[in-house]
Amino acid sequence: MPVTLVVGAQWGDEGKGRIVDFLAAGADIVARYGGGPNAGHTVQVGEKTYKLRIVPSGVLVGAKDCIIGPGTAVSPSQFVQELATLEANGVDVSRVWVSDLAHLILPYHVELDKAAEQARGDAALGTTGNGIGPAYVDRVARRGLRAGDLRDMRKCAQAIGSRCAELERTGLAVNAADIVARLEEDARVVLPHVCDTVALVDDALRAGKRVIAEGAQGSLLDVTFGTYPYVTASVTIASGAGAGLGFGPTTVDAVVGVAKAYATRVGAGPFPTELSDATGERLRERGREYGTVTGRPRRCGWIDAAALRYVAAINGLTHLAITKLDVLDGLSEVSMGVGYENAPQDVSLPFVMAANPKPVLRRFSGWASSTEHARTYGSLPTQARMYLDALAIEVGVPLAYVSVGPERSQIIVRKGAPAAALATGA
Ligand code: IMP
Ligand code: MG
Repeated sequence: MPVTLVVGAQWGDEGKGRIVDFLAAGADIVARYGGGPNAGHTVQVGEKTYKLRIVPSGVLVGAKDCIIGPGTAVSPSQFVQELATLEANGVDVSRVWVSDLAHLILPYHVELDKAAEQARGDAALGTTGNGIGPAYVDRVARRGLRAGDLRDMRKCAQAIGSRCAELERTGLAVNAADIVARLEEDARVVLPHVCDTVALVDDALRAGKRVIAEGAQGSLLDVTFGTYPYVTASVTIASGAGAGLGFGPTTVDAVVGVAKAYATRVGAGPFPTELSDATGERLRERGREYGTVTGRPRRCGWIDAAALRYVAAINGLTHLAITKLDVLDGLSEVSMGVGYENAPQDVSLPFVMAANPKPVLRRFSGWASSTEHARTYGSLPTQARMYLDALAIEVGVPLAYVSVGPERSQIIVRKGAPAAALATGA
């Protein structure tokens, strides 16, 4: 059994956790391949709502092993906290693994992130302030520390000492001794989870087991293909999974792109279909669109099928998953972006978007009835189906899943959709 990939098709917060939660039932491995605790995956199981940051959503469904891959950036203190919360909720965390190749986010990365945002003034990116960018900078500058380095605290202390001395010379107040002391404490909890995840994934693939690779953030936040510079620092698109976990491109059999039935964005940057009116406000309130990590109100707007077409291309999407359809219930009219007015030719989408173009909107009749009890595509209101069918055609990717509420059961799985690992006996 090969790899099933789940990626965000917008600017993050698409509800990837929901789809992973479905696919990962009975899977052997669920793995995160990039990003860090900037992510916030909300998964609701019965009465409980879990807000995951770095641990893959599969941890809640009983995936055998949950991997935080080599391509991620891990904050040891935040990871320790997340493990403790999961454990307090009765989740078995002994199957959570951190690649020894994953880079560490240390307190000075957080300070550097905040300082950089402040220095940008009005042009601030609106980062989550978790030190993600600076940690990836250190990785590329070849002065980062990896989870595997926690095995040698003397090496860590040395590296942290010299980095802090350097930062102090630039005027940043950091205390190397405090950082090392805290890290030593955290390392005791983290180290038992640190291992060679490349071998874990390889063994599973060779044994024909199913591996679910869980994307974080969204394709439009990808460091290369996103709306640069308003992007995150990691590779969020599908090909980042191989590079971030350590497997080859031929092992992937499905790439599921997850998008909301509308669109949201947190932080600054272009968003052509944004609604700054009462409809936008309604989406925010009905969809509870407030950041999982930062609590910031999310910017809301119509779905952008033109952007999704680009996202389908850069990811090789094989299936679409549309989440939160129920949030659109009761609107008299629903719109979909299908292009941009006066868009220049031969210019890639990030440059088109940077010019803040007006979207070309296609209008649809809304539906008055509630979709939250629908469990088959056929039982959705006709207008909702017309909207979704048109979307799949605009994007050029078949629609495999529709979620109509936060409960695990509130999902429509269409024929031809990748099945839960459990259902296929994989
Ligand atoms: P950073 O990843 O904290 O550096 O933030 C860079 C940009 O990505 C900001 O606009 C953030 O709001 C956005 N971002 C990062 N992670 C997520 C996420 O998981 N969901 C939504 N937006 C995110
Ligand atoms: Mg999120």
